[in-house]
Amino acid sequence: MAPLRKNSSMFHSLMGFARAMPRKSVYEVIKLVYRVTAATGLYEAIKSAGTGEYTPYYPYGYATYSPWFQSPFQNIYRKIRSRSLVSEDRGYIINRLCLHSLRLEGDFAECGVYKGGSAFLIASTIKQYIDKGRSLHLFDTFTGMPDTAVKERDGHTKGDIGDTSLEEVNEYLKGFSFIEFHPGFIPDTFKEVTSKQFCFVHIDVDIYQSTLDCYRFFYDRVVPGGILLCDDYGFPTYKNAAKAAVDQFFSNKPEAPIVLPTGQCLVIKL
Ligand SMILES: C[S@@+](CC[C@H](N)C(=O)[O-])C[C@H]1O[C@@H](n2cnc3c(N)ncnc32)[C@H](O)[C@@H]1O
Repeated sequence: MAPLRKNSSMFHSLMGFARAMPRKSVYEVIKLVYRVTAATGLYEAIKSAGTGEYTPYYPYGYATYSPWFQSPFQNIYRKIRSRSLVSEDRGYIINRLCLHSLRLEGDFAECGVYKGGSAFLIASTIKQYIDKGRSLHLFDTFTGMPDTAVKERDGHTKGDIGDTSLEEVNEYLKGFSFIEFHPGFIPDTFKEVTSKQFCFVHIDVDIYQSTLDCYRFFYDRVVPGGILLCDDYGFPTYKNAAKAAVDQFFSNKPEAPIVLPTGQCLVIKL
């Protein structure tokens, strides 16, 4: 079959058809295609063909350099794959921003730890460079979503993502002496670090109230040039949750939140 060229009439007809369809239907068609290809094993074949050095960049029809599918990043990602909800591309962003932040003063923090996957990624990225006296602070209930989760707004209810425990995460992360655990309800547990300043904060708590509480606490404690990275911003499920909290918080701040194609939202503190 001849390749579908960008300027061909077939390409324009297909694009016109897609544009004319209601948004919801386009989404349904994409979901259907995904389900069929996943069920037949085709999805895995397409995915592995697309995880090379350069990978297709939707919807532009060209490929871009994708170091998150390559070593050395894959050597770290392999160790967290089964314990994290963060995909390779998002993990790579975390990895690079941690390396950036090491040059600044202050501690590292993650809000929303779950099984410890992204915490392991942060810790193994900074391990060989972090000075004595600097810490990585981890905040989570370690029993799942709190009762401030509202199903209609957040897509979660109390106890969701609760198949973890402080003991097992502690065991998984025992190789990192600079980690400090703060188990319990955010923002109550923030009182344990009120006097600290931070160079990097990863916010991955999904729901509206928790996300807002994280920004309210950390914003003033992040040093200039430091990073506030929200994992959940761009996903439709969290439109009224994490995204609403970030938009509300930064509506009267000088920083311009940068929405990344990965779904994350990056703020560089001024
Ligand atoms: C998506 S998971 C984190 C995933 C993890 N960063 C990873 O992929 O490796 C979200 C976590 O946020 C936690 N969480 C949400 N709101 C919280 C709150 N108010 N206090 C403590 N933990 C909270 C939940 O318990 C859950 O473990």
